[in-house]
Amino acid sequence: MASREQFSSKTGFIMAAAGSAIGLGNIWGFPTQTASNGGAAFVVVYFILAYCMAYPALMAELVIGRHSKSNIVTALKGISGDRGAPWFGVLVGIYGVVVASLILSFYAIVAGWMLSYLSESVFNIVGITQYNAWFTEFSFSRNFVFLAVFMALTMFVISRGVTAGIERWSTRLMPLLFILLVALIIYVLTQKGASEGLKVYLLPDFNQLSPKLILDAMGQAFFSLSLGVGTMLIYGSYLSEKENLPKLGAIVTFTDSGIAFVAGLLIIPAIFVAQEHGTTIFTETGSLIAGPDLIFQVLPTLFESMGSVGVFVAFAFFLLMSIAALTSSISMLEVPVSLTTEETSMKRPMATLIIGSAIFVISIIILLNFGALFGLVIDFTTVYSQPVLGILLCVFVGWIWHRNHVLKAIKSGMNDVENSFFWKIWPMYVRFICPLLILANFVQSLRG
Ligand code: TRP
Repeated sequence: MASREQFSSKTGFIMAAAGSAIGLGNIWGFPTQTASNGGAAFVVVYFILAYCMAYPALMAELVIGRHSKSNIVTALKGISGDRGAPWFGVLVGIYGVVVASLILSFYAIVAGWMLSYLSESVFNIVGITQYNAWFTEFSFSRNFVFLAVFMALTMFVISRGVTAGIERWSTRLMPLLFILLVALIIYVLTQKGASEGLKVYLLPDFNQLSPKLILDAMGQAFFSLSLGVGTMLIYGSYLSEKENLPKLGAIVTFTDSGIAFVAGLLIIPAIFVAQEHGTTIFTETGSLIAGPDLIFQVLPTLFESMGSVGVFVAFAFFLLMSIAALTSSISMLEVPVSLTTEETSMKRPMATLIIGSAIFVISIIILLNFGALFGLVIDFTTVYSQPVLGILLCVFVGWIWHRNHVLKAIKSGMNDVENSFFWKIWPMYVRFICPLLILANFVQSLRG
């Protein structure tokens, strides 16, 4: 049997895992959730949940993955041998794979929009403006073309494998993402109106605290760290036994929440700069415009009003979005592809082609029934399935897998783990606190 691929270094893993975590969820989701949940109070709650709830759950996935050296289905089947039924592991694993694939099916549509705005900016830079309406207006032809391009890019990277695909492209693209982000922030913060936005973003108003805010923050933390569906599990499985898992997990959590925070320094001030330029930034009910209108109307209008630099700012912004989306989408596609290559004799390029095409077809079905399906798929995957899977994975690590086996799995790369703060807290956390917290939030959300 050919030996299993691994990330070539610690940095390779960090770039890939941070690349998965840092996506549209950070640069669009986090700032807009902050805007619609009353600013800085949301930021505070988000940070607490990211470290106290999402990080322990991320660790559960990384530990299972590195120990099992396999995809989520085979991994859960393996550890259920301790105290559970293998069929249950298989079932939960398959649920995760289905959800990962469905997340990709809507994520790729949104990523396609980023590519179409990116293309528009390129056309504008070279002076061709007669296609602007096609690039920016919602139509099946536009959506289809850019969805296809984005899926092709995702499939290209995944077909190359772990080191030559995932690691190489994450390592190339993530530094570029960071540079673009910083450059855009510097530019926006020098514009008139930006300080108003900074105030909204950074001064907490704890009167805004509500069950909805906490729930939104939890969903955001789960989505942002790519949890529940086996993404982080499979990336953990490509990690060497020499690496210290709790430390790497902490670095990834820190980078992810850090970039989300920094993205807020770009988006929220930009909204207020747009207001200076005469754009309406509040809805009729008085809250900040958040959803798609923010990215595809408020910001583009802002870029237009900036004169000749505007096209370059637009280019940098949509390039940033496209890169963030690509390093995330590859991690989603890796989930079903790794299952297929590990459980059948199919080779990676073929598996990528077949599964990528199948997900592409699902995306097209969503596009053709956009009103009915788009929101439904997002709710089914991110609002319901991710928390349920999060609880199940904690149950696997906290209740089904033997504590000694868990300890042994973490010990590799961290010899003194028994005496660490991590080992004093984390096992109890994944056993009780994480599942209960997620459950409480979840029940609250079901009650509306
Ligand atoms: N975390 C990414 C973002 O913030 C999206 C993502 C990648 C994801 N893989 C995932 C979300 C798996 C849920 C599950 O945009």
